[in-house]
Amino acid sequence: MLKGKKILIGVTGGIAAYKIATVVRLLIQEGCEVKVIMTQHAKEFITPLTLATLSRNPVLTEFFSPENGSWNSHVDLGIWADLFLIAPATANTISKMANGIADNLLLTTWLSARCPVFVAPSMDMDMLGHKAVRKNIDTLKSFGNHILDAPSGELASGLTGKGRMSEPDDIVKEIKAFFSKKKIISL
Ligand SMILES: Cc1cc2nc3c(=O)[nH]c(=O)nc-3n(C[C@H](O)[C@H](O)[C@H](O)COP(=O)(O)O)c2cc1C
Repeated sequence: MLKGKKILIGVTGGIAAYKIATVVRLLIQEGCEVKVIMTQHAKEFITPLTLATLSRNPVLTEFFSPENGSWNSHVDLGIWADLFLIAPATANTISKMANGIADNLLLTTWLSARCPVFVAPSMDMDMLGHKAVRKNIDTLKSFGNHILDAPSGELASGLTGKGRMSEPDDIVKEIKAFFSKKKIISL
């Protein structure tokens, strides 16, 4: 079902970033090509080395290398992908997306992407429930982005409530369901 699909994953600086290693692994097992973009903050939560090894591609964060002038084309990345998954998506990145801010590679790529975008919010329950965040998530929905519901459960803060990142298996199931629906429609 997912064999040969090109999946771009954007990782932001939330505590659930460790779960993205499993998502990458599952997608590779399904035969996907995977590229990963990380925000600077995401690197505090999971190393680029882990995600580069699992995805079999270098992890991208910077617009360019000051040492040799080579640069990463957000436009090419946005065109390359069949699907862009942003997971975990922090309140910060969701807010920037809702407002069209373009101050890192993940955001410029999102603005350039022509493919379907799936966003998996992940944050503390009170952050997720805040009107500012709700409004920003609604704005992303109005742009046509698919929001992966943040289930309830135990949060890293010690509180219990909504805000956990969707589990890796569930994320992959959603991606499969999306491509199988698309296939049926195009038959
Ligand atoms: C230990 C720790 C855990 C955090 N977890 C989250 C989180 O789960 N969700 C979130 O929205 N922000 C979280 N933050 C705050 C973000 O790291 C912060 O807003 C950062 O600016 C996000 O940057 P980015 O969106 O560019 O990756 C956490 C911060 C710390 C120190």
